[in-house]
Amino acid sequence: MLNTIYGDNLPEMEKTREEVISVIEDERERLRKKYDADPVEHLLSRIKSEESMREKCRRKGIPETSYSALHVIRDAIGVRAVCDFLNDVYELRNALVKRFETVEEKDYIKNVKPNGYRSLHLILKDNDFYVEVQLRTISMDTWAALEHNIRYKRDISGNTELIAKELKRCADELASTDVQMQTLRDLINGEL
Ligand code: GTP
Ligand code: MG
Repeated sequence: MLNTIYGDNLPEMEKTREEVISVIEDERERLRKKYDADPVEHLLSRIKSEESMREKCRRKGIPETSYSALHVIRDAIGVRAVCDFLNDVYELRNALVKRFETVEEKDYIKNVKPNGYRSLHLILKDNDFYVEVQLRTISMDTWAALEHNIRYKRDISGNTELIAKELKRCADELASTDVQMQTLRDLINGEL
């Protein structure tokens, strides 16, 4: 399919994506020096494909136009940073919020979704483009991948309630382990 929904904005969108990545990389480097360990387990970014963007417009019942793709939907540019430790999620958050205009913040770590989903989401604005940033720990990321998989890819009819209950329990246990791991690291680094 032709790359047309973004009009001629793709090069500028790419630049915006790179700017957000570079702020994360700078903070990553600062923390790497501080802890003598890389705080980021992985860093992914993408510009939503033509097909997914059109599908999302249809799902939301809005016209398949550049305006919808860039000004109504706010995750045409998406970045996800996954950290080993909880505190670094907030260090990255602070670095981003300092540098970019933040139009929305959803802290699903403090305000956990009923299903157990945890992640810190920011909608940033730069060069007139929105960027959706998802920041979370490895535990949260593993959980989100499994939950996503179950929701979209598997036929679990019959076991839905049991699986939802077990998923929630795992999410809460992982969250508790994240806190314990953070405390351990602080102890090891002499920060407690
Ligand atoms: P859209 O659904 O993208 O329109 O966003 P929203 O306005 O509902 O924003 P939100 O910040 O809640 O979600 C943004 C993205 O986070 C979603 O598109 C998903 O990729 C991810 N996400 C949100 N909730 C969940 C969840 O319960 N499970 C999983 N696996 N991913 C989630
Ligand atoms: Mg989204």
